[in-house]
This record gives sequence, C-alpha cells and structure tokens, in this order.
Amino acid sequence: MSILVTGFTGNTGQEVAKKLVSKGASIVCAVRNPEKAKSLFGADYNYVELDFTRHETFDTALERIERIFLIFPTETQFSDFHAFIRKAKEKNIRHIAYLSVKDVQFMPFIPHYKNEKEIIKCGITYTFLRAGYFMQNLNLFLLDEILHNDRIYVPAGGGKTSFTDMRDIAEIAARSLTEQESHFGKKYPLTGNQAIDFYEVARLMTSELGRPIQYSNPTTKEFKAYMLAKGITDIYHKITNEQPTGIKTYIEDYRETFMK
Ligand SMILES: NC(=O)c1ccc[n+]([C@@H]2O[C@H](COP(=O)([O-])OP(=O)(O)OC[C@H]3O[C@@H](n4cnc5c(N)ncnc54)[C@H](OP(=O)(O)O)[C@@H]3O)[C@@H](O)[C@H]2O)c1
Repeated sequence: MSILVTGFTGNTGQEVAKKLVSKGASIVCAVRNPEKAKSLFGADYNYVELDFTRHETFDTALERIERIFLIFPTETQFSDFHAFIRKAKEKNIRHIAYLSVKDVQFMPFIPHYKNEKEIIKCGITYTFLRAGYFMQNLNLFLLDEILHNDRIYVPAGGGKTSFTDMRDIAEIAARSLTEQESHFGKKYPLTGNQAIDFYEVARLMTSELGRPIQYSNPTTKEFKAYMLAKGITDIYHKITNEQPTGIKTYIEDYRETFMK
C-alpha cells in the first residue's frame, strides 16, 4: 500500500515527495498529466492521473492507496474537492495529511476552513498542517520584482508574519504520513522561529545578497494596478512549456523588414 502525493508537480508536493522517498516510503504521484510529469520529473516515480474536476479519475488514483498528502489547488471548486474526500472515505483511506493554513480556525470564509470540516465530517483520520506564509513565496511569485527591480513588492504593510520554510512543512507532512498514530487528529500550526515584517526580510536579503533590496509596501490598490498594467501572463509557457518570444528575438528575426 502506498501514499498518494497530490499536487506533486507543485511546490509543496515536490518537497513532500522527496522527503517521503528519503524515508523509504512507497509513493504514487497524483498528476493531471502523467506523460508530462514523467518528462519533467523522470520515470523513477510512479504516476497516476488525478484531476479533481474529473471525478472519473478518482477510483484509479486511489487504487492500492492507504494514505494521502492532500493539497487544495486554489482554483478548485468545493464540490469537486469534497467529492474526492468522500471517495477517499469510500475507498477506506486510513489517513490524510492536509495542507491547510495557519489560524484557519478564525477564518470561516477561506476554503481551508470548509475543507478541514469536510475531512472531519467524513471520518477519515487526519493531520492538519496549518502552515504559515511560505518563505518560498520570495523565490516564486515575488522573484521577478526582486531580480529586476531589487524590491519586495507585496501589499503586506508593516505586519509581522511567521514565515515558514516549505521544506519544514514537507518534513512534518512526511513524518505524519510515515510515523502515523502520534500525528492522528493533530492540527499543527507550522511556523518558522521568528515573526518578522517585510522590512526586516528586505534588510536580511540586502545583507546576504550584497545589493540593496527594498520593501516597497504598496497599497492593495497600487499593487493591483501595477500587476494589471504589467499585463504579462504565463499562458504561453503553461501551454508549451517554452518561454514566449522576447522583443529582442523578434527584432532580430524581423531585422530585414526594418532596414532602409
Ligand atoms: N503560499 C503560501 O504562503 C501558503 C501558506 C499556507 C498554505 N498554502 C496553501 O498551499 C496550497 C498550494 O500549495 P503549493 O504552493 O504547493 O501549490 P502549487 O505549487 O500552486 O501547485 C498546485 C498543484 O495543484 C495541482 N492541481 C491544480 N489543479 C488541479 C486539479 N484540478 N486536480 C488535481 N491537481 C491539480 C497542480 O498540478 P498541475 O501540474 O497539473 O497544474 C500542482 O501540482 C494552497 O492550498 C494554499 O492555500 C499556501
């Protein structure tokens, strides 16, 4: 019997898969496109198709599975995600380690609140990994501004956040799925060892990187306007797995057209 790792191609799923393999666990990687996953992550992993929006993928994905690392992809509908949880119960899944968010119990309006409730309602043994703000947001969606404009551009004010390293979350996820009983029914708030604001993060980055990094602290309105004005999407990359053509390449390719 194996552990199903959902969100395997994503950030946390990758880390959890690595940790589980290093602990000698047998895992199956749940992905929407097994062929693509194989080409990106290699043939050493076992892949199975799972798409929360396609309920017909659920049965096969849960074959010979005993435990699940479960993430909620943000764009998923509750009706689909909860159908998967109910199917997991029907298939006698013993344990779900669910990636939730810190302080979820005070936020009934966020999806994780409803998802935790659904898991409890179904009666599947769970561990809730209530994670703080990922440190890796800096090298993911905040990276572009850090690299190109030497600034952290996020509307977070001066509030302090308990930044959490995704690798630590993965470690606890892997432990809860392999050590089992001692983690059953636990709701773990997972944080780093410091609550700091983005000004402090910028100071630490400046010192480590040897170039000044600013925290811009835009208002939510400014942030939204800036992102919309940039107007850049990653659709081309998502569809082709290649970078879209840059303006320099375009000018080189059309050079003759512009010559007098
Ligand atoms: N960012 C934070 O600071 C933070 C903090 C606490 C908790 N969280 C929670 O972490 C979760 C996101 O984790 P992450 O950053 O590791 O995810 P991620 O990198 O955004 O990856 C999303 C994963 O979900 C998969 N996926 C998308 N739609 C799917 C569908 N319909 N069926 C099956 N799989 C699907 C994607 O697979 P494909 O390759 O097929 O697209 C991908 O593997 C969210 O629930 C978020 O609330 C985030």
